[in-house]
Amino acid sequence: MNRDVIIACDFSSRQATLDFLDRFTGRKPFVKIGMELFYAEGPSIVRDIKARGHRIFLDLKLHDIPNTVKKAMRVLSALDVDMVNVHAAGTVAMMQAALEGLTRPDGTRPLLIAVTQLTSTSEETMQKELLIDAGINDTIVKYASNARAAGLDGVVCSPLEAGMVKEACGPQFLTVTPGIRFADAATDDQVRITTPARAREIGSDFIVVGRPVTAAADPVAAYERCLQEFV
Ligand code: C5P
Repeated sequence: MNRDVIIACDFSSRQATLDFLDRFTGRKPFVKIGMELFYAEGPSIVRDIKARGHRIFLDLKLHDIPNTVKKAMRVLSALDVDMVNVHAAGTVAMMQAALEGLTRPDGTRPLLIAVTQLTSTSEETMQKELLIDAGINDTIVKYASNARAAGLDGVVCSPLEAGMVKEACGPQFLTVTPGIRFADAATDDQVRITTPARAREIGSDFIVVGRPVTAAADPVAAYERCLQEFV
């Protein structure tokens, strides 16, 4: 799998998203569409962006009973997206069902990755609220191993966790990592962050970059800087 930079298109409307993407007249970036835009604009925004030549990571983080996830994945697969995700907490059976639903009659399918523990969940919250006694890193590695056992392609994780996931699940198992900032820039609300260059060294396959590109004075130049450092 070739390394690539995914731009998180965290815009609230079709117009804002398409205006932003219009700036990219050369290489068409791989883009991430999340819940906000998908729930606001529906499947047509996915079709429109796809028709403009972008690859799409549809970040909807499914988590339900296996049968429901399987049927929902069948719908998303027909949208011709390139990558989708589920919560690993939904269990191995749910992840296997997701994979089945995603696989098209001709055998092709989008990449399927799992969220292990959200980076907004601290070890303390996980132990006190969710009654998970293990350490957070052990939980992340166990959930990643479950995803691999279910046949998934990889996980979303912090770039700082990519090394331990690769160690546990093998070099082919993909790590898709948000929490990316340039060395000379603001961190915003992100905590466990690193630079595109360091993410490459640790073993990320895809970096997900939002505000460092979307809020830049020159988004195309910021995207190209990510490519230069990472790819
Ligand atoms: O603007 P920024 O670069 O922080 O955006 C990162 C993107 O990755 C956002 O869309 C955010 O929701 C997403 N994300 C994250 N941390 C996770 C999972 C997803 O920042 N653990």
